[in-house]
Amino acid sequence: MSLVEVKNLNKKFGKKQVLHDVNFVIDEGEILGFIGPNGAGKTTTIKLMLGLQSITSGSVTIDGYDIVTDFEKAIKGVGAIVESPDLYMYLTGRQNLQLIANYYKGITKERIDEVINIIGLGKRIDDKVSKYSLGMRQRLGIGASILHNPKVLILDEPTNGLDPEGIKDVRELLVKLAKKEKMAILISSHNLSELDNFVTTACIIQNGHVVSNSSVKNLKKYDSSRYKIFLDKTKGISKHIKQEHNVISDYLIEVFIEDDDVSDLLLELLNNKYKVRQVIKEEMSLEDAFIKMTGGNTID
Ligand SMILES: Nc1ncnc2c1ncn2[C@@H]1O[C@H](COP(=O)(O)OP(=O)(O)O)[C@@H](O)[C@H]1O
Ligand SMILES: [Mg+2]
Repeated sequence: MSLVEVKNLNKKFGKKQVLHDVNFVIDEGEILGFIGPNGAGKTTTIKLMLGLQSITSGSVTIDGYDIVTDFEKAIKGVGAIVESPDLYMYLTGRQNLQLIANYYKGITKERIDEVINIIGLGKRIDDKVSKYSLGMRQRLGIGASILHNPKVLILDEPTNGLDPEGIKDVRELLVKLAKKEKMAILISSHNLSELDNFVTTACIIQNGHVVSNSSVKNLKKYDSSRYKIFLDKTKGISKHIKQEHNVISDYLIEVFIEDDDVSDLLLELLNNKYKVRQVIKEEMSLEDAFIKMTGGNTID
């Protein structure tokens, strides 16, 4: 059993169907990127997962509990931010956490300190939230949503409006929550590249249909990789390399090649008196991987 199971989820608003058999699961320690252009159905899916809107058909379970028939138990297991976090600007970060802790039973002062530690706001926790950057507010919001120690965290476009620094902070916090606290995390975004290098699964939704759902490892396991090879010279090299390879400068070529074939190419170059100075394998971005998989479609 996965911590989150979304099965054949359908949603109609009147006659308009906005979700069509949406399926995905999230396991502990996994960060699922829920990616799609505006209007694709991300927020609607999230609202159904949290019991904020009625399900037309299909089901959602959180830690084994059905969000409709076992709402109380299911919702205990999840922390979430839909739209922006509700924070009091004229209170400090710590006061905001204390206030939210009062809504729940049994959140100790120790747990609040633990969460402050996790979200890494340090000394700034006793400053007023109005003095925080957007990234710090987002981290405080995430802190508030995990006070009750949920196993699942659901965030709807938490990187919206953040600067690169803020995005990096949120990213690092989510990786920490997945790795150390073993949470199952869903983060939605309309921007594929923002989720690169930290989500473990990319679930892509378009017009209410999940069009791709794959571990990032699999997505990036493409048949050829991009290598940069620095040489003492590149003069006359086109005889020895394939046409699709590029001569970038007098010292650099770029090749698209299967990993297993790299040594053969290097040998060929060495045999022809080219000195190899450096070989760099370029990481494929999530966007590259997706474009490659769909044969050129972009998501928006
Ligand atoms: N309350 C509603 N009534 C009617 N249509 C809605 C309602 N909420 C969302 N929609 C429609 O459902 C579709 C998906 O919206 P949404 O889930 O907000 O997409 P996303 O979060 O991916 O941008 C859109 O076409 C939107 O107009
Ligand atoms: Mg939305």
